[in-house]
This record gives sequence, C-alpha cells and structure tokens, in this order.
Amino acid sequence: MNETFVYNSLGNKNIKGISQWQSPSNIALIKYWGKKPDQIPMNPSLSLTLTNCYSKTRISYQSEVLSNDDFKFSLLFEGKREISFENKLLTFFDRIKHYCPYLLNLKLIIESSNSFPHSSGIASSASFYSALSLSIMDIEKHLNSKIEKDFFFKKASFLARLGSGSACRSLMGPVSLWGESELFKDSSDLYAIKYQNEINAVFNDVNDTVLLVDKGKKDVSSSLGHGLMNGHSFSNDRIKQAHNNLKEIKSALKTGDYDLFIKIVEIEALSLHAMMMTSDPCFILMKPNTLQIIKEVWEYRKETNSKICFTLDAGANIHLLYPQNEYEKIQNFISLKLSIFCENGEYINDKIGVGPNKL
Ligand code: PMV
Repeated sequence: MNETFVYNSLGNKNIKGISQWQSPSNIALIKYWGKKPDQIPMNPSLSLTLTNCYSKTRISYQSEVLSNDDFKFSLLFEGKREISFENKLLTFFDRIKHYCPYLLNLKLIIESSNSFPHSSGIASSASFYSALSLSIMDIEKHLNSKIEKDFFFKKASFLARLGSGSACRSLMGPVSLWGESELFKDSSDLYAIKYQNEINAVFNDVNDTVLLVDKGKKDVSSSLGHGLMNGHSFSNDRIKQAHNNLKEIKSALKTGDYDLFIKIVEIEALSLHAMMMTSDPCFILMKPNTLQIIKEVWEYRKETNSKICFTLDAGANIHLLYPQNEYEKIQNFISLKLSIFCENGEYINDKIGVGPNKL
C-alpha cells in the first residue's frame, strides 16, 4: 500500500455535485507487457497521447449514509446500463477504496461515452479509466479544496493505473512515461509522468491513423497476456530490451533522428507480438491483413523515403505514425493501398495531443 495517496478523512462533509472530464487514449511506443501484483509494470513504457479518440465521463455524486462496505453506483455507457462492465468497475472500486474511502459514503451515477465506435477494436480502457479517475479526483477536491494541481494529476494517474495499466499514461501529453527507469529521476511504477526531456520539433505534429483491421473482440484479453509474462522464457531479455529501447528512443526524440525512431517503434511493436507468440500457451492477435499492411508500409517507405512507421496494440489493428508534412500523400496511400485490408475499409485519423480536458 502506498500511503502518499491515501485520503485522510477531514470529517463527514455532506456533498453533492457533478464532475465531468474528457480524456484521450494513448499509443505506446515502448510497450508495457507483463506486470507484477498491484498493476506494477515489469518494464517502463513511453506513449504518445492522442486527440480524437477519447472518452467523456460524468459522475453525479451525492452523500448517503450507507450501512455497509458496498459501493453504490450505476453505470450508463452511451445511455444504456452496462451490467458486465459494472462488475469490472467493482474490481476497480475495490482496488481504490483504501485511497478514496469517501467513495463509500456516496451514491454515484457514472455516465460514459466514447468518440470512437464501441466495436472498433480500439480499447477504451485507457481513455475511460483516465477520465473516470479525474472525475473521482474532482470529488476529492470538493472534500479538500487544498489539493494542488500536481497531486491531483499524480493521484488521478495512480488511480487510473489500478483500472488499466496503460490508462495512467493518458493523464498528460504529448508524451508520457510510466515505470521506473534510471534515465528519468522522477519516473515511477505507481503513476505516469509527463515526458520532460527535449523533443525535437520534427515530432511536433505526429499523426496516428488507426487502421481497423479487426473490429471484433480480442480472443485473448491483455490481462491474460500480461499474466503469461510471468515465467515466460524470454521475459528477462524482454525487460532488458525495453530499457535499451527507451534509451534509444530518448536519444531519437532529442536529436530528431526519425530513422532511429522508426526502427525502435517497429521493433517494439513486433517484440510485443513475439512475446505473445512465444508464451505458454501461445497466441496470435495479428491477422493476415495486419501482415499485408506491414509489408505495404515497408515497400512504401523504401520507394518514397517516407518517415511513416507502424505500431500495434494488443490486437490486430495497425497504428500508422507519420509527420504532418506527409499528411496528404499518406492519406492517399491509405485510401488507395491500405483501406482494402481494413474491415469495411474503415480507419480513424488521430494525432498527438496534450491530454485531458475538464468539461
Ligand atoms: O493497460 P492494459 O492492461 O490494457 O495493457 C496494454 C498493453 C499494450 O497496449 C499492449 C501496451 C501498452 O503499453 O499500452
């Protein structure tokens, strides 16, 4: 238990209010894969915060004297009650109750919606838990107005991590770092921090087009995949590789070395999937069209000298990263050559962003 983030009751205030946040998704360049108990990552990860793929979460809260240790909440997702999701949320509330005991004295109505289609194969957990955690911190601020901005976001990231690890990186932008690394003195396994080191202007306007190769639910959840890193034959080497790649990408970000950036981003994406393919039991989340797209991207880069590269989440969809000065050419390339590999030809144009907004 980390005592820094425990809320010490200031007496039983009667409160009522509404808090609402919008928070984006993020895409990891250095991948988090494998965790220790309490959502502690096996290795540090680095991500780009996005703009267009976001969740909006609103909590209506009201004090209520409750007789037991149960949470009183209901969840409306896109206007409808989501019982299956309520169970996941119960696990989250259970994890955070030590840090936010005031939640036990409140009746909550949580309403959430996403800017991207529900069945797009894009995980909404990062944007959802980050928006939810910020709304919870608004309640904490209602109880204790002295909370400072820095603590507010740090604790929100700490709470979001307990919902879904990668969610803790959505609290700030344009680049976030989560997990201890000797290269960054303020880094922590408990929450993400804004990447404070120098970022060359060539990375100012990175675009991320998400190619929706498979809009269905994944065969293997990320929780299961993370679990399989315990006892994995290559886990020690993978952890070492992630640390090395973090060092390399730090240098690429500083010097503006796009080729090094591309190399590291693609190695990370394929290493993530290599870990899945070599775990016990093994599994494959990429689809034939994922590989087709990778092949096309490599050919296009060779022919045009473009700075396009790809990365992958724990799924079949491809994230294409490229600089703004290639936007039109690459949009053309996508619609002519890549959209045929997407489900119903669909893709989502997103770009690097600065983080959440209070609504
Ligand atoms: O946050 P989770 O438990 O959904 O795990 C996310 C893992 C990856 O998306 C594959 C990598 C990452 O760092 O985001």
